[in-house]
Amino acid sequence: MELSKEEKLMFEGVRGEGARKAMEILVALAEIYNAERMIEVKSAQIAGVSYRNLGDAGLEFLEEWAAQGAKVRVPSTLNPAGMDLRNWRILGFPEGFAEKQLRIIKAYEKMGVDPTCTCTPYLAGNLPRFGDHIAWSESSAVSFANSVIGARTNREGGPSALAAAVAGRTPLYGLHLDENRLADFIVEVRCPLKSLSDFGALGYLVGKKISGGVPFFRGVKKPSTDRLKALGAAMAASGSVALFHVDGVTPEAQKKNMLSENAKVLVIDDLSGGYDALNSQGEVIDFVALGCPHASIDEIEVIADLLRGKRVKSTLWITTSSAVKDLAEKRGLLNMIEESGAHVVADTCMIVAPIEELGFKKMATNAAKAAFYAPSHCKTDVRFGSLEKCINAAVSGRWE
Ligand code: F3S
Repeated sequence: MELSKEEKLMFEGVRGEGARKAMEILVALAEIYNAERMIEVKSAQIAGVSYRNLGDAGLEFLEEWAAQGAKVRVPSTLNPAGMDLRNWRILGFPEGFAEKQLRIIKAYEKMGVDPTCTCTPYLAGNLPRFGDHIAWSESSAVSFANSVIGARTNREGGPSALAAAVAGRTPLYGLHLDENRLADFIVEVRCPLKSLSDFGALGYLVGKKISGGVPFFRGVKKPSTDRLKALGAAMAASGSVALFHVDGVTPEAQKKNMLSENAKVLVIDDLSGGYDALNSQGEVIDFVALGCPHASIDEIEVIADLLRGKRVKSTLWITTSSAVKDLAEKRGLLNMIEESGAHVVADTCMIVAPIEELGFKKMATNAAKAAFYAPSHCKTDVRFGSLEKCINAAVSGRWE
């Protein structure tokens, strides 16, 4: 492949061992995907942060890379960590876990990464523009950036996103190229979509059917960005979908014809299959998890309103970025939520935190992505339904 002068200097180690290692990863990727050259990226979002997922081997890998002098060249943020970085003690996270988690964050900081740990970086200061090439790795953020913002990223792994951040480049292939951004499925939605969980159920069903494809939705009326984020997260979880278009809504679908010639048609006229697939049995709920992907300030406002004058019986987490949590505090929403006994938890989420160690066994959520992963990742039973049902479950301790 063709490398620029600066890329050659990095590849040959002239810019230090940290940059050499980054280029080694990127060149290997370019060879796998037949990329002819690199393209400069504007930002990175790096997964592989929770100690629960990384373990000691991952921690040592990061500390070694940092010690080799790797430094990021573009603004870079992190995916959720395994705990709330400020309030982990109050929330009951084990001391040993916290010590390792903080070492991971320190290694990233040493490389110049902003320790903002969120799957919605676009709500916390890492906001790309239409057409920007970026290297992001969290699947729901990749989907949002590609689809709702119109930026361009492949679904990076943790090491490849970090390598792109250090080199300031990524191989030019996949969703960075126009021809790969056309839809190969037309999804006709012929049922009402009334809630965030309906968008999640729709995303789950579509992802299952088109695995890895690019859908073009018709019949989705003026969805809010929060609903689009729920839709994309669910499709990314059930079918590795990294890009979708919504007729007349998402930016690329507004600018030109995004349908490929042989696009197949898929009709969705009932969401019950999605709800059935994502629900286990059982009425008792000990943990309610909202904010997957991390909650926006609008979502927090709605939740605060629903909790007004109530007291929760089960543990209720609303997960978000520390930036949005700070904003919620300024607006008085944090106080309202905490008065009910619920917690706004920053920097982590119900899937990457060590939920088993915290003792939760029966989770309720309004997020299809969390419902999809909870049984396998957290070993919990899960109930999936509307926000109102989840708030009721938190208050009564039961799924009714
Ligand atoms: Fe984000 Fe965790 Fe959901 S990373 S998308 S809140 S599973």
